Amino acid sequence: MITGGAGGIGRACAQHFLNAGAHVVIADTDLFALEQAFQQLGANSNLLHALACDITQPAQCQKLIEQSEQCLGGPLDIFLAHAGIPFSGSLLDAQEKEIRSVIEVNVLGTIFSAQAALRSLVHGRHPTLLLTGSLQSVMGRAERSVYTASKHAIAGLVKSLSLEMGPHGVRVNGIAPTVIETPFFRQAVENIGADAKEALEKSAKSLPLGRIPNADDFARMAVFLASDAAINITGQMMMIDAGATAGKFN
Ligand SMILES: NC(=O)c1ccc[n+]([C@@H]2O[C@H](COP(=O)([O-])OP(=O)(O)OC[C@H]3O[C@@H](n4cnc5c(N)ncnc54)[C@H](O)[C@@H]3O)[C@@H](O)[C@H]2O)c1
Repeated sequence: MITGGAGGIGRACAQHFLNAGAHVVIADTDLFALEQAFQQLGANSNLLHALACDITQPAQCQKLIEQSEQCLGGPLDIFLAHAGIPFSGSLLDAQEKEIRSVIEVNVLGTIFSAQAALRSLVHGRHPTLLLTGSLQSVMGRAERSVYTASKHAIAGLVKSLSLEMGPHGVRVNGIAPTVIETPFFRQAVENIGADAKEALEKSAKSLPLGRIPNADDFARMAVFLASDAAINITGQMMMIDAGATAGKFN
């Protein structure tokens, strides 16, 4: 089950989990993108389901999990809480509505959807909860204040939930990428009036490996963390950052 499954990274994750033989449910609030993703990923596959859900609404999260259990014929084994929205610009200029929506989706939405999912995962087979973080889960960044606060919250959830859920057999890990080109990235760049191509080139140059990761890199990490190869990995925030958090580079 992947929330934000109609977006750039979520769609790649769905594809990689399908390739690995998993039964996949994608959930999203954007119904147009959800239908597009469903068609692109293989509407005819009996391994794929698409369900509408706004993760900021606990009742919808609960319904999503119940519908998913029906689609899957049992409890969830893997839940990727991926849906999130960007925030960019100075806090001096930010509107209350914008601040609230970032915290509502990125923090409360992640918590409500993870809570509903965990009630199913505890009955799953080698269950795994994956939460999407960011470079801003571990580092600050100017003009990303509210987003940084929201993604540091994800790092806290990974740690506390891994301790709380370990005795229930549920592993909890985070995946934290640096910039990946998706609609999310373009919106963040446009919000501050910058050019997406220039921003990507600048980001690549700022990284020790000189390149930025892509959605497939993220998806491969998700499949690995959900697999038995990661059976003893829990409580970790796995950075996909081309070296960004290793230290000062230039
Ligand atoms: N793209 C990047 O550069 C980047 C870098 C680091 C972390 N991330 C993280 O990746 C996630 C965004 O993924 P993406 O880059 O594929 O972006 P995206 O915008 O392509 O996809 C995000 C999806 O989440 C959905 N969504 C938004 N609010 C929702 C809600 N309330 N309920 C359900 N679904 C909702 C959107 O409709 C969209 O389909 C976020 O959690 C973000 O913090 C992205």
